[in-house]
Amino acid sequence: MHRIVYVSTANDLSEDDLAELLAEATAHNARDNVTGFLLYNGNNFLQLIEGEADRIGQLMARIEVDERHSGVVRLIDEEAADRCAPGWAMQQVAMNASPDLRLDGLLTVLPKLDPATAKLVRNFVMLN
Ligand SMILES: Cc1cc2nc3c(=O)[nH]c(=O)nc-3n(C[C@H](O)[C@H](O)[C@H](O)COP(=O)(O)O)c2cc1C
Repeated sequence: MHRIVYVSTANDLSEDDLAELLAEATAHNARDNVTGFLLYNGNNFLQLIEGEADRIGQLMARIEVDERHSGVVRLIDEEAADRCAPGWAMQQVAMNASPDLRLDGLLTVLPKLDPATAKLVRNFVMLN
């Protein structure tokens, strides 16, 4: 099992662009047994992806050249025993919901992340 968490900067995406991206990601991930979540605050993405190492490597190579965003920086790139987000083909957290509601959505995964990453995700969710 391999896990990557990265941040990036979005390139002018409309609501429709974002919906299309999520639909594509969710369908591919269900097929490839990839799980995770995608946070978008209007400017930046923070995404967690996890799954079989080769699949994650291939996915990350596609994501890094995707022109819908740029400046991809990996925060975590590690082998892991278990998934943090086993049920999520690609969970989106609605950033137009209140900060408390946004956090509620992530409470099941935060305790499974190491404390520093959990804090980073928490801060990202609270900002916008
Ligand atoms: C922020 C962001 C997150 C993405 N997340 C995923 C993802 O989780 N799974 C996925 O298959 N594609 C994701 N994509 C899309 C890929 O970059 C790529 O377009 C898609 O996998 C299709 O690639 P293909 O046309 O080469 O098959 C994401 C793109 C962006 C910009």
